[in-house]
Amino acid sequence: MAYTGPAFYDDEAIFEEYHARRQHRTNANRLLEEPVIKEMIGAVDGLRIADLGCGDGGFGVELLASGAAEYAGVDGSERMVAKARESLAGTVGTASLGILEEWEAAAESYELVVSRLVLHYLAEDDLLTLLRRVHAGLTPGGRLVVSVEHPVLTSCNASLEQSGRRGSWIVDGYFVTGEREVRWMGGTVRKHHRTVADYFRLLQEAGFAVEMLRESRPERERFETEEEYQRRMRIPLFLFLSGCKVC
Ligand SMILES: C[S@@+](CC[C@H](N)C(=O)[O-])C[C@H]1O[C@@H](n2cnc3c(N)ncnc32)[C@H](O)[C@@H]1O
Repeated sequence: MAYTGPAFYDDEAIFEEYHARRQHRTNANRLLEEPVIKEMIGAVDGLRIADLGCGDGGFGVELLASGAAEYAGVDGSERMVAKARESLAGTVGTASLGILEEWEAAAESYELVVSRLVLHYLAEDDLLTLLRRVHAGLTPGGRLVVSVEHPVLTSCNASLEQSGRRGSWIVDGYFVTGEREVRWMGGTVRKHHRTVADYFRLLQEAGFAVEMLRESRPERERFETEEEYQRRMRIPLFLFLSGCKVC
């Protein structure tokens, strides 16, 4: 049976495995996702920030240390929220338990909303509702910055099912959008595939002026070996978008 996103990360073995991988210094999130999303976010001094699908809250600690005025993380996994509360102890940051399908903020309560590697767990209708609520929760001129698994990866599971270190990737059914059951880290999780253009359109439909669209293009200096760098040059792992609330 396929887990929803939050239930998947609440499985004890998967939670431990995910954390072990996420902490690793050559993890793809660190080398490819983190540099781009931080660049897109820019300075955070004085900002009130919501983090949708905050995971262990480590990003909240960093944002507060960089000058953010407030940080409110939300995540649907009880284990993640417990970990996030531990990480944020002693700061003004908070982490609350809740699914994004039901998230709503008071009008104009944040200058910045971020969401890292979460929105591909939401069905299209739920994502559009969430984006509209984010728009309402932002102050005029406020921004949304997100990363998702790149649609060339969410299109098809065949690559993940190859054993050992992948040397090639299969993109298939790209325009057949919707649910995918994905075997990963010993469990099966339900994700939702959509195209690059779909993400762009959904932001616009929710009222955002789309500012930036980027991909996780590797930078040579971040990689210890030329071989690993060349391997990461083959396909994009992550897609990034930012939108602004223009009133
Ligand atoms: C890949 S992790 C990313 C965590 C964190 N943003 C990071 O980059 O380290 C995905 C997170 O999204 C959460 N998540 C997935 N679907 C969700 C949903 N529908 N509602 C709330 N949280 C969800 C999971 O519980 C998990 O913590």
